[in-house]
Amino acid sequence: MKKLFIKTYGCQMNVYDSARMADLLAPLGYGPTDVPEDADMVILNTCHIREKAAEKIYSELGRLKKVKDARQRGGGSMMIAVAGCVAQAEGAEILARQSAVDLVVGPQSYHRLPEMIARLARGAGHALETDFPAEAKFDALPENSAGVGPAAFLTVQEGCDKFCSFCVVPYTRGSEFSRPVAHVVAEAEDLVAKGAREITLLGQNVNAYRGPGPDGEVWSLARLIGALAQIAGLQRLRYMTSHPRDMSDDLIAAHRDIGLLMPYLHLPVQSGSDSILQAMNRQHAAGDYLRLVERFRSARPDIALSSDFIVGFPGETDKDFEATMSLVRDVGYAQAFSFKYSARPGTPAAAASKQIPEDVKDARLQALQALLSAQQDAFNAACAGRILPVLFEKPGRREGQAVGRTPYLQPVHVDGAASLIGRIVDVRIEAALANSLKGALTLPVEKVLVH
Ligand code: SAH
Ligand code: SF4
Ligand code: F3S
Repeated sequence: MKKLFIKTYGCQMNVYDSARMADLLAPLGYGPTDVPEDADMVILNTCHIREKAAEKIYSELGRLKKVKDARQRGGGSMMIAVAGCVAQAEGAEILARQSAVDLVVGPQSYHRLPEMIARLARGAGHALETDFPAEAKFDALPENSAGVGPAAFLTVQEGCDKFCSFCVVPYTRGSEFSRPVAHVVAEAEDLVAKGAREITLLGQNVNAYRGPGPDGEVWSLARLIGALAQIAGLQRLRYMTSHPRDMSDDLIAAHRDIGLLMPYLHLPVQSGSDSILQAMNRQHAAGDYLRLVERFRSARPDIALSSDFIVGFPGETDKDFEATMSLVRDVGYAQAFSFKYSARPGTPAAAASKQIPEDVKDARLQALQALLSAQQDAFNAACAGRILPVLFEKPGRREGQAVGRTPYLQPVHVDGAASLIGRIVDVRIEAALANSLKGALTLPVEKVLVH
């Protein structure tokens, strides 16, 4: 048995891709390891979204080179592959910058890994694959492995045609592509048969999903969700990431009509200032976003909202930043991600003249994060004392403990629940901790198990 170590950076689409790469390599005799030192093959599945994310890869490769050298001195060998968005963006440059790298494979070409490895084994030197057709990849992937957890990811849409002026994704993932409905349904059925109870539908712009349906029509995400909700044994559905521009009436209605669809929405806004939104090429104003939020809340009053924010976009004034703070106060988020603007080579915003000094970005990020974390704390604190259904996903750190998630995606730790992994169980929320909740079963575990 050969050992495979995969380290995943970036978004959930990379998490999905890493699992699929493991599935592809299993027939070649590769089994997983958590220890790079033991690995015969190491894959770094990389992210290019911010400068820091990309730089991390080169320092990790430096460390891996030492491991590989030590292996070779002992007469062994180790293959190092770089996959993901850095692979797509930098391609051959990676091979030039770090000689220990054997393989570079982009996010739309990783189905070719087995043949690339075979080529390398024949001594054909380094291998580089950064072609684009997403279609070919999905058709070539094997089934998901048997080791599917209770909460699974399923990529239904890839790529981006939006070209926000700060973002590399349209260049690293290519143009928007939606998988056919029948393929998505078959993969979901397979995941459920292998133990998934919750499926999160993934896409860089998942609500731009326009998949060819079995009836010859083009299906929306809402229609796809409606079909998936019929799968026996599936108990929860989620989707991410959505773009405000692609939001549709039927998806809002689905939050009212489809019980399986969880009351949680990640809807990035990036900024609360209309002039910054325009410079970002987001193609929506702050008011459009607020109206969408209102409509979601009338369809599903308890919906938990999440977002992404960028501070220090070129030209952002104090007043622009204040507009972002004000939007956050208006919406009230359950959780959110916020980042300092990072200039990415080749994107239009990187060439803008009014770049913001680092100390200003730092101060704005701190202020925004303080506000967002106060909102998150308030959201979590309001759950204390409530009884919420929790899907237990994995063992916790303590003996007998299990960790699961509420409908609002909050992690919950519960003692004495390890035998309930894979089930949805009522949990009394006892306390809100820094980034999670602490809960207790409402019934003794034996009673839960006979239900
Ligand atoms: N498709 C999603 C987001 C994909 S990238 C959307 O449109 O919302 C995830 C997040 O990274 C973005 O929402 C944005 O907040 C952040 N991001 C992207 N490019 C960035 C950059 N150049 N600097 C800082 N943050 C960035
Ligand atoms: Fe990037 Fe904008 Fe596309 Fe999101 S919508 S992936 S932020 S270009
Ligand atoms: Fe990063 Fe690529 Fe995802 S740049 S955020 S891994 S699409």
